[in-house]
Amino acid sequence: MQQFSPTIAAVDSGDPKADPAAFRRCLGQFGTGVTVVTAAHGDELVGMTANSFSSVSLDPPLVLWSAKRTSQSFPTFKVATHFAVNILSSDQIALSNHFGRSGGDKFGGVSWKRGIGGAPLLEGTLCSFECRKAAEYPGGDHLIMLGEVERFVRHDRGPLLFAQGRYCMAADFADPTDLSKATGQAHAGGPMNEFMTALMYRAHGVLSAALDEGRHAEGLSVLQSRLMAAIETLPGRTLASLLPELFLGLNAAESTVNELVRMGLVEADASGGLTLTAMGRDRNHALHARARAIEAKELSGISPGEIASCRHVLDKLVRRAPTA
Ligand SMILES: Cc1cc2nc3c(=O)[nH]c(=O)nc-3n(C[C@H](O)[C@H](O)[C@H](O)COP(=O)(O)O)c2cc1C
Repeated sequence: MQQFSPTIAAVDSGDPKADPAAFRRCLGQFGTGVTVVTAAHGDELVGMTANSFSSVSLDPPLVLWSAKRTSQSFPTFKVATHFAVNILSSDQIALSNHFGRSGGDKFGGVSWKRGIGGAPLLEGTLCSFECRKAAEYPGGDHLIMLGEVERFVRHDRGPLLFAQGRYCMAADFADPTDLSKATGQAHAGGPMNEFMTALMYRAHGVLSAALDEGRHAEGLSVLQSRLMAAIETLPGRTLASLLPELFLGLNAAESTVNELVRMGLVEADASGGLTLTAMGRDRNHALHARARAIEAKELSGISPGEIASCRHVLDKLVRRAPTA
């Protein structure tokens, strides 16, 4: 057996009871998909965003998820005989945020139809599982609900993912047959290098790793720097109104704002409007200056003309993309 000798200090560690926020952050490192679980009881319809979904068994076909006991929809989930698990697709962040907020009529303005047991099936999802509630198990402040799947549907779309408090899309690791490594050549010719996508993906990897180091050197996490950039661009907005621009989960965004307030970089007014403090603006500008210097270093040795034409090509591609 090899000696376990971590050379890099852990970011968070300890007793979950002593530091629940750090425990939660640690749990949030585990990447998941995102679902909206729905149910009906009489006229009452409920739905909440949940990433506790898990597959359990093929025979019989079982899945599970866990519901927070204090959530407003909990009493209805408790009495409903069925629930539907709507697995969200990559363009449904707004729906995830919508069903991640507590209470209110969540189904007005949303396209849905009734599934088995009346549980709403949402439009535009990646897949859905209509379940009969088969069992419940105590899970501390949550209740674990086991469902027997009676019907499933899958569409040809990409999944919405959630990890480290932020929404993500699935991307393949580019170029599984990296010939430059196999041959020891710096830049081997081969089918993979012929494609712009593979080259852009690898170039993005090189640049973003360097930028990550810069952010780290500035003492800021990805979430902190993303929030600071948004607050500087849209000062005075509340976190709720910034969220759609940020691709962050509410819990992670709230605790990140609290961190930034404690660090003296952000302040909130009485109605929750957020602005950067003078120190926050300085830190943000230092981060941008660092990012500019890092990019310049990574691009050194490439002529200004080459960089300009590369920018021109990328810009044209971005403008052509339907989602840009
Ligand atoms: C990505 C994400 C995943 C979530 N996962 C769960 C979960 O698995 N179980 C849960 O009870 N709440 C989960 N929540 C929180 C609920 O969606 C949230 O508390 C919601 O406000 C509950 O609505 P309600 O109070 O109207 O029932 C999640 C929220 C987000 C954004």
